[in-house]
Amino acid sequence: MSNRRNVLITGGCGFVGVNLARYLHGKGYHIRILDDLSAANPDHRQILTGAGSPEIIRGDIRDGAAVKRALEGAEAVVHLAASTSVTESLENPKGFWDINVNGTLNLLETCRAAGIVRFVFASSNAAVGEQTPPINEKMIPKPLSPYGASKLAGEALCSAYFHSFGMQTVALRFANVYGPHSDHKTSVIALFLKWAAEGRPFTIYGDGEQTRDFVHVEDISQAIHRSLQAESVGGEIFQIASGRETSINDLVRLIARVTGREIRTVPQPERKGEIRRNYSDIAKAKKILGFEPVVQLEQGLRALVQK
Ligand SMILES: NC(=O)c1ccc[n+]([C@@H]2O[C@H](COP(=O)([O-])OP(=O)(O)OC[C@H]3O[C@@H](n4cnc5c(N)ncnc54)[C@H](O)[C@@H]3O)[C@@H](O)[C@H]2O)c1
Repeated sequence: MSNRRNVLITGGCGFVGVNLARYLHGKGYHIRILDDLSAANPDHRQILTGAGSPEIIRGDIRDGAAVKRALEGAEAVVHLAASTSVTESLENPKGFWDINVNGTLNLLETCRAAGIVRFVFASSNAAVGEQTPPINEKMIPKPLSPYGASKLAGEALCSAYFHSFGMQTVALRFANVYGPHSDHKTSVIALFLKWAAEGRPFTIYGDGEQTRDFVHVEDISQAIHRSLQAESVGGEIFQIASGRETSINDLVRLIARVTGREIRTVPQPERKGEIRRNYSDIAKAKKILGFEPVVQLEQGLRALVQK
């Protein structure tokens, strides 16, 4: 196949990965996955039947031989594999650096040798850190956590591999992603929906007026697909989000509405270092990639609850 249709997804057994594999399979792509299964979705094999049951190579992105094998016949790479918990990164900064930065470097280097033409990197708003929102690509990044710093370093490597070696790298800074097959995650929507299903009260840190930008994984998959196809985007960074600001209190009200349950909340002291307001300006992604988020938060939550 041509036209960047043979794609390796690293971390393809995780939350974003299984959704992306299904999405790209539906667009006619041929997928292979490299994943060490350290944090994979427990149901990945069954979910991936909807992606044509792609070949899964069990291996670590830091292992040159495993990466080389995974890249055979691939034209493009979507690099999702990472350690992803901000809290765990505070306990183990060196471990996060090793997987997220050394792992990304090992992957890029092996991609260079294999002649990979397009490399899409999953970055995060955490690379930018505390800013006055809306966050855009021109702001000077100030990561607050080792996780954020590792994502910023990954962006830097992508830039270097474009400018030094001509590899068409694209870094996408995802906001807070939600959607199906995220039960293994501890992100706020995954947790709240689990608590709602169990009839448990919701723990709310601070006054609940802190805001986030919640983007559906279908829209993330759309952005990645567009990044695989777009011309002249080498070395670029894009904010990928809904562009909407939602407070935790509003999220609780929405979950009450879509579940039809009364939600009890338990206030806890504000968490140290927590970002107060966070949402993204997605004008650049709209203009250059043609990205257009389509799933509204209430619609996305309702679909998850009905599942
Ligand atoms: N989910 C979000 O809200 C969000 C937000 C911003 C950025 N991101 C980024 O998107 C990417 C995907 O996130 P996710 O939510 O799907 O996470 P996830 O934990 O569900 O998936 C990550 C996958 O990577 C695999 N993995 C971890 N270390 C590996 C290694 N050394 N070698 C090979 N595989 C390894 C895990 O087994 C897992 O299947 C990550 O890079 C993450 O930092 C996610």
